[in-house]
Amino acid sequence: VTGVSGRFNDVNMDHPSSLRASDPSGMLDVLSDFPDQLLQAVSIGRSKIELPDPEGLRGIAVVGMGGSGISGDVVSAVAAAAGLSLPVFTVKGYELPPYVGSDFLVFAVSYSGNTEETLDCFEQAAGRGARLVALSSGGQLAEEASRLGVPHLRVPSGIQPRAAFGYLFAPQLAVLERMGLIEGICRAVEEAASVLEERSMEYSVDTPLDENPTKRVAKDLVGYVPVVYGSEGALEVTASRWKAQFNEMAKVPSFCNRFPELNHNETVGWSNLEDVCKRFHLLVLRQPGEHPRVSRRIRVTVELLHESVGHISQVCARGDNYLERLLDLIYFGDYTSVYLALALGQDPTPVKRIDELKRLLAEPDRR
Ligand code: PA5
Repeated sequence: VTGVSGRFNDVNMDHPSSLRASDPSGMLDVLSDFPDQLLQAVSIGRSKIELPDPEGLRGIAVVGMGGSGISGDVVSAVAAAAGLSLPVFTVKGYELPPYVGSDFLVFAVSYSGNTEETLDCFEQAAGRGARLVALSSGGQLAEEASRLGVPHLRVPSGIQPRAAFGYLFAPQLAVLERMGLIEGICRAVEEAASVLEERSMEYSVDTPLDENPTKRVAKDLVGYVPVVYGSEGALEVTASRWKAQFNEMAKVPSFCNRFPELNHNETVGWSNLEDVCKRFHLLVLRQPGEHPRVSRRIRVTVELLHESVGHISQVCARGDNYLERLLDLIYFGDYTSVYLALALGQDPTPVKRIDELKRLLAEPDRR
């Protein structure tokens, strides 16, 4: 592992009150409530709304963007690990694939309920007679669902979509369980929540840098562009969550990729533009039980790249099962991105660029 001197602010990671002062909208509090959010999310998913008939389903599509869309990636990975024999995929755009029809279950997920791509896909799915379930904190999606008689799961409003991650993915899993498509998943989420309760102490703002791995990783990232590598499946999803959290919480560029695919192209790209490559910090996400060839690829890749990039760090998931490991690493990345924001003097909560972009897109002459 090599390093270049990064730009360090004078932020004292062992000073909870000054860290809190740099977090005026309380993202740290929202994060520490995450285990509780998971429990509430499961009960929302269990609420007694009438669900579509699972008979003859050929697949499941989750339509959603950004902080809402990632819920579909997580549901896809977790459902596959839980043995669901149907394909689950996420649609992140304006067009529902042509093969999605009446034999598909479609979750339309938008935290605000007002995301235009999601609303477009919802409309297409309804037009094709797909079996719909909508999930939002309100907005047009809730109105449309009520107009069309589509079951709608309402989650609490008032936080950022990326901070509502538990509300967005767990109810979908609960719905799949209620429809008889997977078993025992609600229980598994509840058990994972109690493990995360312990992690929330470890990752807490009150836990000093020496004992808090999320603060340490964040400190090491100051001055670098984080590039997050996972391996196919859970860690690939987690890598994309970390990347998005670095973008939105810390407001830094960040990129992600996955093993083994990255060995077939990106590994070569670190050969040139030496000074630029030194500004990147590779974060490799690991988990116990990963494919032995992936473990070997990671070892070889680190060996090949360690002199080309600024830093390489590895973070390993903890937990007794697939879901616990996935949620542990996502939680780790969420905290890390918030501490990176605070170390860079950024308020983690607002995403002015997204707000501005949506405002500009809504202007009539831009449509
Ligand atoms: O994190 C964010 O704010 C964005 O990625 C949003 O999730 C995205 O723009 C979609 O909005 P919504 O989640 O309200 O559908």
